[in-house]
Amino acid sequence: MSPQVPRDFQLGVATSSWQIEGDVTGRGLSTWDEFAQRPGAILDGATGEPACDHVRRLDEDLDRLAWLGVDAYRFSISWPRVVPGGAGQPSSAGLGFYDRLVDGLLARGIEPVATMYHWDLPLELEQAGGWPKRETALRFADYASVTAERLGDRVVRWATLNEPWCTAFPGYASGYFAPGRREPGAALAAAYHLMLGHGLAVDAMRQAGARNIGIVLNCFPVLADTPEMAEAAAHVDGLQNQLFLDLLTGKGVPAQLLARCAASTDWSFVNEADRAIMGVPIDWIGENYYTVTRVGPPAPGDWTSIAKDGDAYPDAPPLSFAPRAPLTDMEWEVIPQGLVDALHRISQAVPDVPIWVTENGAAVPESRGANGLVHDPLRVDYLSSHIAAALQARDEGVDVRGYFAWSLMDNVEWASGWTIKFGLFAVDPTSGTRAPKASAHWYRRLIESRGSFLEAGG
Ligand code: FCB
Repeated sequence: MSPQVPRDFQLGVATSSWQIEGDVTGRGLSTWDEFAQRPGAILDGATGEPACDHVRRLDEDLDRLAWLGVDAYRFSISWPRVVPGGAGQPSSAGLGFYDRLVDGLLARGIEPVATMYHWDLPLELEQAGGWPKRETALRFADYASVTAERLGDRVVRWATLNEPWCTAFPGYASGYFAPGRREPGAALAAAYHLMLGHGLAVDAMRQAGARNIGIVLNCFPVLADTPEMAEAAAHVDGLQNQLFLDLLTGKGVPAQLLARCAASTDWSFVNEADRAIMGVPIDWIGENYYTVTRVGPPAPGDWTSIAKDGDAYPDAPPLSFAPRAPLTDMEWEVIPQGLVDALHRISQAVPDVPIWVTENGAAVPESRGANGLVHDPLRVDYLSSHIAAALQARDEGVDVRGYFAWSLMDNVEWASGWTIKFGLFAVDPTSGTRAPKASAHWYRRLIESRGSFLEAGG
């Protein structure tokens, strides 16, 4: 059964630049372009060209958003498209693309919600040391400032970073994501400098005229599968959640992590004066929720989750990840209550700041009907139960303002390439053609029917 969604609860869809844009020749290279060239790094060898060829197909994709009837579209801006090389002069063609995107959304009555960084770091900045270096945070603020200057009059809400945990830990500790480094100490420095970049960018963007600035985290409840794993779960939670919530609220690196990760780093990059920069008040916060992290006893050779092997958590005691059925194609446990709990936790940690669920969705088995329509009932169930979970948290007092489904369309799912599909629209990676799945029709009806239960019920 579909959830009863109040009229004032915003519904949208989300995408990210590297996963959909293509047109690589129109921009600088990113860490993901280089990573995609490494044999075996991406499961099916997919690259950022053409991805969904979205740059060339902008107008038709805007029409798809209008057909869905979404209130808002969350997209990300490619740093190497706006500032090729990561520093220096912005590209007028790059900024021009986002101008067209933003104007096209507004013309269709859709709110533009822009994320400044969804993992595609300019390659040159990685070659100069990447996020483990403080300099990268300064360059990020420069890029955020020129972008805000150009689009700040029209973008309705901004996020600085998408899921800094993913850039820092799968990127620099386990190496499952670009830039593919396996250096736990560098990962901790990356997490820190990402959050410094966030704070500097908020300030720079406000000065450039942008308003409604926040950040998108992926806080996942961490559950100990057995009582003796409580300690390991606390370690994982410190790195997955507490680190980012504490830095974001000006508390600095949690004391327990300073001790827990002493074998990987001496934390010499920490500077007391940074606390206030990172803790700059924000206007809203985004939560990307897919699953919980269930920590089980070590089981050599046992299951490790996509992007979540133990190496992504520096200095963690021996553990395994032990998701319980039902699982999605990502082998992620389906547990809507985790979203309720994550929203409560965020609202307690960052009080008086409205929350949007900025990503939620599922990769599930699909089938094609005689008429060619892709049937994906498990996706509808997943979206439905998680929208209901967000509304439950709202009923319980959390200030949740809206929900974005991941994703508008199938796209290059990072290290899984095209093998994993999250889209409401099916995309044929060869021809680039798109078609709405049954879930797209369902979402469209849900958006349209918002509030009607109130009227029907009197
Ligand atoms: C999130 C990412 C998004 C997408 C989904 C499935 O972690 O932000 O780009 O890959 O997972």
